[in-house]
Amino acid sequence: MRERGRVVKRDLVSIFSLNPDEIDHLMESAALLKAKQKEGVSYTPLKGKTLGLIFEKASTRTRVSFEVGMYQLGGHALFLDFKDMQLSRGETVSDTARVFSRYVDGIMARTFSHGTIEELARYATIPVINGLSDLLHPCQILSDIFTIMEKMGGYRGLKVAYVGDGNNVANSWINCAARLDFHLSLACPEGYGPDPTLLERARRESRREIHLVNDPYEAVSGADVIYTDVWASMGKEDEHAERLRNFRDYQVNSRLVKAAKTGVRVMHCLPAHRGEEIADDVMDGSHCIVWDQAENRLHVQKAILVWLMG
Ligand code: CP
Ligand code: NVA
Repeated sequence: MRERGRVVKRDLVSIFSLNPDEIDHLMESAALLKAKQKEGVSYTPLKGKTLGLIFEKASTRTRVSFEVGMYQLGGHALFLDFKDMQLSRGETVSDTARVFSRYVDGIMARTFSHGTIEELARYATIPVINGLSDLLHPCQILSDIFTIMEKMGGYRGLKVAYVGDGNNVANSWINCAARLDFHLSLACPEGYGPDPTLLERARRESRREIHLVNDPYEAVSGADVIYTDVWASMGKEDEHAERLRNFRDYQVNSRLVKAAKTGVRVMHCLPAHRGEEIADDVMDGSHCIVWDQAENRLHVQKAILVWLMG
């Protein structure tokens, strides 16, 4: 990207910082990249480039899809556990960002504090990608929009019902609803709603109302997609028992699925806690599209990498 002759780097910290055209571009690019990969066509625009992956939290899908994505695009991914880095011994985030900028061509970070990712983005002269923070999970929701488009031919006018914890995934759904034209209803227990500032900001900018209710049956009524996530996110493990009690009426089970549209699709970012937020028979049933959803993380992240680093 160029601004007055100067190259300006872009980051992906939040979907809120993207415009609808940029999201549509990412979706088109992901479809092309997926088609190439399925046809076995090699496409290596990131040859010679390295992505640094910083993980402060566990990951299966995000780590594997970014590593494999970089390899397929001709580049290299460097996995770094936060615990092994000088960051864990007091080196500042800003100094780390400056040093990384001298070695690699992009950073993907998964952190507890969202502020860590914002600070990396502020001080790095290379693109920074949010691979999940306590506040947001933008790559997940961009990839979920791609899956919805693939399965349902588009997202415009559809109703997505998010049932469960108002966490990072719910917050990114809210950011996405501020940018794209679909209905979003969230059902969360009292005291477990999404970030209020973020919700208020999204409501000001969204074309449609964003509903927040306590009753999951109200949220899923007329829904094309039911979406859920774990009740205790990474970092909230010590609240697990208390959350099991407070979320017990929020399980995505066959009764709840029947209350939505007949052909409703059930989505989950994974990892799932079967028997908690999602019943086994729904997870393994005909409405569930979680495996294609997980695969699409690879294709959409490749599109993000080409957009930011290509
Ligand atoms: N959905 C997701 O981000 O999965 P991981 O935690 O396994 O990366
Ligand atoms: N909300 C979950 C998402 C995991 C991909 C967590 O933060 O643990």
